[in-house]
Formats: sequence, C-alpha cells, structure tokens
Amino acid sequence: MEKKRAIIIGATSGIGFELAKILSFDGYIIGITGRRLSLLEDLKKELKSQVFIKKMDVSHAESRGDLKDLIEEMEGVDLVIISAGTGSLDPSLPWDKEKETIEINVLGFTAMANVAYHYFNKKSSGHLVGISSIASIRGGEAPAYNASKAFVANYLQGLRYLLSKNK
Ligand SMILES: NC(=O)c1ccc[n+]([C@@H]2O[C@H](COP(=O)([O-])OP(=O)(O)OC[C@H]3O[C@@H](n4cnc5c(N)ncnc54)[C@H](OP(=O)(O)O)[C@@H]3O)[C@@H](O)[C@H]2O)c1
Repeated sequence: MEKKRAIIIGATSGIGFELAKILSFDGYIIGITGRRLSLLEDLKKELKSQVFIKKMDVSHAESRGDLKDLIEEMEGVDLVIISAGTGSLDPSLPWDKEKETIEINVLGFTAMANVAYHYFNKKSSGHLVGISSIASIRGGEAPAYNASKAFVANYLQGLRYLLSKNK
C-alpha cells in the first residue's frame, strides 16, 4: 500500500511538533515547516519516516509558493495541518503584537489553507486541518488572538460548505 503523506505547518514546537512525531510513527511521509530551520533539522533526525523540510514564514508573500514547492517535492500530500499560530496576552495591546497575530493567524493561515484547498479540490481528495481554539467563541483578554481563531473556525466552515456544493 502506498504511504500516506502529511504536511505540518508549524512543526518546530508544541502541537505541530507532537503531531509530526505521531504521524511519522504511524508511517506517514512527513513535510515539516517553520521559521526555525535548526529545529526542523533536529526534528528530522528524531523521526523514523522520510521527512521533507521547508523553512517558511506563513506571513510572507512567498509562503504560498513555498507550500506548493513542498507539495511538489513530496510528490503529493494527503493531509495538511496548519498549526502555525501566535498570540499575545499583553493588556496594553502593543500594535506590533496585534498586527503580528493577525498576519500569522489570519493572513498566514488563509494563504496556507487556500493552497491546500485548491490542491485537494483538484485531486478530489485530501484533508485540511486548521487549529482554532475555545477562544474563538467570544472576545477575551487577547482580542486579536480570539478574533483570529473565530476567523479560522468560520473560514474552515466556509471551505467545507464549498466542497459539499462541489460534490
Ligand atoms: N497550546 C494550546 O493550548 C492551544 C490551544 C488552542 C489552540 N492552539 C493553537 O494551536 C496552534 C499551535 O499552538 P502551540 O501551542 O503548539 O504553539 P507553539 O508551540 O508556539 O508553536 C507554534 C508553531 O507555529 C510556528 N509559527 C509561528 N509563527 C509562524 C510563522 N510566521 N510562519 C511559520 N510558522 C510559524 C512556530 O514555528 P517557528 O517559530 O519556527 O516559525 C511553531 O512551530 C496555534 O495555532 C494555536 O493558536 C493552541
């Protein structure tokens, strides 16, 4: 049976890091991304299955091309997990942190989801996973973070709706 292929966007720490280990253990060919190349290289050494690395910043304009390149290098993908995300709990709401949260969690997320959506839609199969949060339900102490996670949840509902209409 052909091996399944998964890309984890934001695999240098936290949830993405652990998912990479689990999927590799399950035999997946893995693509891992993040901004910190040395951590990607360390993770590659730890994983037992075949691993592809792509250093990328989801908030940069070239990230869409980076993801397309990674899919091509891996000769396809069955599962894309967008784990990259950030947030700030500083109650003084510094603009650079608010902006960064929106750039990564909204713009970066959408850039990645858009590439995966078109890729999976074209081949009529595949799974896209985004990680929202309980914080998406209402505004709270991290306004930009909560709002960004509401965007993620709502956007994924939209993709599901469009795919169900295309069937
Ligand atoms: N942990 C929780 O309790 C929790 C709860 C609900 C939802 N979530 C969501 O789950 C996701 C993962 O959370 P986590 O706790 O695992 O966070 P984390 O440990 O901080 O990991 C975040 C990952 O995202 C990557 N990343 C951040 N900014 C990036 C950028 N601009 N471009 C590319 N990659 C970027 C980081 O890699 P580099 O720094 O190397 O780029 C890192 O691998 C996030 O979306 C978070 O909002 C987490």
